[in-house]
Amino acid sequence: MCGIVGYLGPRSATGVLLDELSRLEYRGYDSAGLAVLDRGRLRVVKTVGKVRALAALVERDPLDVHLGIGHTRWATHGRPSTPNAHPHVSTAGDLAVVHNGIIENHAELRARLTAGGAVFVSETDTEVIAHLLAAKLAGPAAGDVGRALLLAAAELRGAFAVAVVAEAAPDCLYVVRQQSPLVIGLGEGETFIASDIPAVLPYTRSVIVLEDGDVACVRAGSVMLSNLAGESVERPARHIDWDIHAAEKGGYEHFMLKEIEEIPAAVAQTLRGRIDPAGQVVAAELGLSDERLRAVRRLSIVACGTSYYAAMVGKAVIEKLARLPVEVDLASEFRYRSPILSDDQMVIAVSQSGETADTLAALREAKRRGVLTLGVVNVIGSSLSREADANWPTWAGPEICVASTKAYVTQLVALYLLALHLARLNGALDDAGVAEVTTALSTVPALLEQILAEREQIADMGRRYAHWEHFFYLGRGLDAASSLECALKLKEISYKRAEAYAAGELKHGPLALMTPEVLVFGLATQRELVDKTLSNLQEVAARGARVIGVVRAGDNVVTGQVDEVIRVPDADDLLMPFLTVVPAYLFTYYLSAALGREIDQPRNLAKSVTVE
Ligand code: G6P
Repeated sequence: MCGIVGYLGPRSATGVLLDELSRLEYRGYDSAGLAVLDRGRLRVVKTVGKVRALAALVERDPLDVHLGIGHTRWATHGRPSTPNAHPHVSTAGDLAVVHNGIIENHAELRARLTAGGAVFVSETDTEVIAHLLAAKLAGPAAGDVGRALLLAAAELRGAFAVAVVAEAAPDCLYVVRQQSPLVIGLGEGETFIASDIPAVLPYTRSVIVLEDGDVACVRAGSVMLSNLAGESVERPARHIDWDIHAAEKGGYEHFMLKEIEEIPAAVAQTLRGRIDPAGQVVAAELGLSDERLRAVRRLSIVACGTSYYAAMVGKAVIEKLARLPVEVDLASEFRYRSPILSDDQMVIAVSQSGETADTLAALREAKRRGVLTLGVVNVIGSSLSREADANWPTWAGPEICVASTKAYVTQLVALYLLALHLARLNGALDDAGVAEVTTALSTVPALLEQILAEREQIADMGRRYAHWEHFFYLGRGLDAASSLECALKLKEISYKRAEAYAAGELKHGPLALMTPEVLVFGLATQRELVDKTLSNLQEVAARGARVIGVVRAGDNVVTGQVDEVIRVPDADDLLMPFLTVVPAYLFTYYLSAALGREIDQPRNLAKSVTVE
């Protein structure tokens, strides 16, 4: 997500802040800024673009300052622009905040604060924090910034890591952490703040990792910690002994593994604020009226690569829940096949980067033909998000590994929520039907944590099968759709031959390839189809192929039907695409690591394919 930094001490604060920000560059961002106290007065510098653009602005007007905060932004609420860049300031311009996360109740706070005289200058959720703090400072906190932060935090819903600089507290910075990471680096007579350890590592290896609900008053060389109730808490400083390169990856050897581990949080983030207390989908951010959406009777999804496979699952789920016909096209084929488009159609472009040339071209073709378009993208401010008529973003955060993992899973979340919204609008589901699915979706992060906690079995399989050459993923229904992504990931990272087939198609060709040299993953998680899939797996086993069954915990698998079993948590059939893909990602990762592959940058592949 975004990056936060802070510094207090004898060095040049702008120098340290810019350096800290540059150490967070690997995370990806669209704008950057900093706020410092210059002889007691707040100064803010911010710009769209890279840290070097910010550095150029600072160089033009150098500041001799020793306390400040900084930020690199990854747009969520509001496009990338200078007004939307952090820090955000109070109307009086006497305090500034930087923030990571999402403030879910920003709309109601904004309305209340505006009525109270606050002047908003950005489209961000973050700006409410600055105005709320100012209101508390002028009111009940009576000039005490620490108190104002506690009072403000009590009114914020959602995830946040916030750092505050205020003229009213000229020798300290305040921070609060609630579900977004924040660390404090302890130096000799100086203190560093960052959302990620690598930013502080060149300066100190002594780091306090804040926990949820921690609030800190940070001075040059000292830190006072409390909880949200203002009661003092203790957090031991840890000694960090990773090198910077490893630290960027949070101690992981590869971004791929780090990003797989981030999947539960990315799912939670993409669900956040989109399900109301009654379990209904909140779709205001689409900006499309119910009437407009009710007029949509057909859907067409265009995408490439992993996003295309998310679309395949999306098709199955939208058709099942919303009972609307969905076509899925490879974006590279769409515009050349003269697609039949009509007024009652919506074209959805799914893309992690929002810059894939073919997907953009497909979107433009749909727009040229006057069809309503919707972007499901992970990068707000990308070409696709700007050009689509409406957006329903994924909030996976920056994805660094070339092969997509967490973005794919959040694309599923976005498409499921869209399916539910459409289902409710056209009457295919009633409120109770929607609530049943949203309740199930809310359990996905915890179910995925369970899979990650039990990864050793899969890691062991990955290592044991590293020298096999031929792999198949088979399944029916949603399992067939998931198989496509499972096989693609194995191809991309391990360079092994991996195919995906609907299990019912076996007899029409691929059965000819089944020999004892082939490892088959049989995804058999769909209740109505499990027996049929298992009997297909028996046909495969009878040809000598080795079979790993991927089944739900508690399902009986007859010994002899499969050689090994991966059990995923027992849950609704609809959730299985989430629960089968993560073990497949882990298998790919550990197998490829055993082979010493360039995991984060597989040969011949690029993260963003901006040419046809
Ligand atoms: C490249 C990447 C894939 C990605 C595909 C589509 O091939 O390596 O990981 O799935 O592009 O990218 P998009 O950004 O449109 O999702």
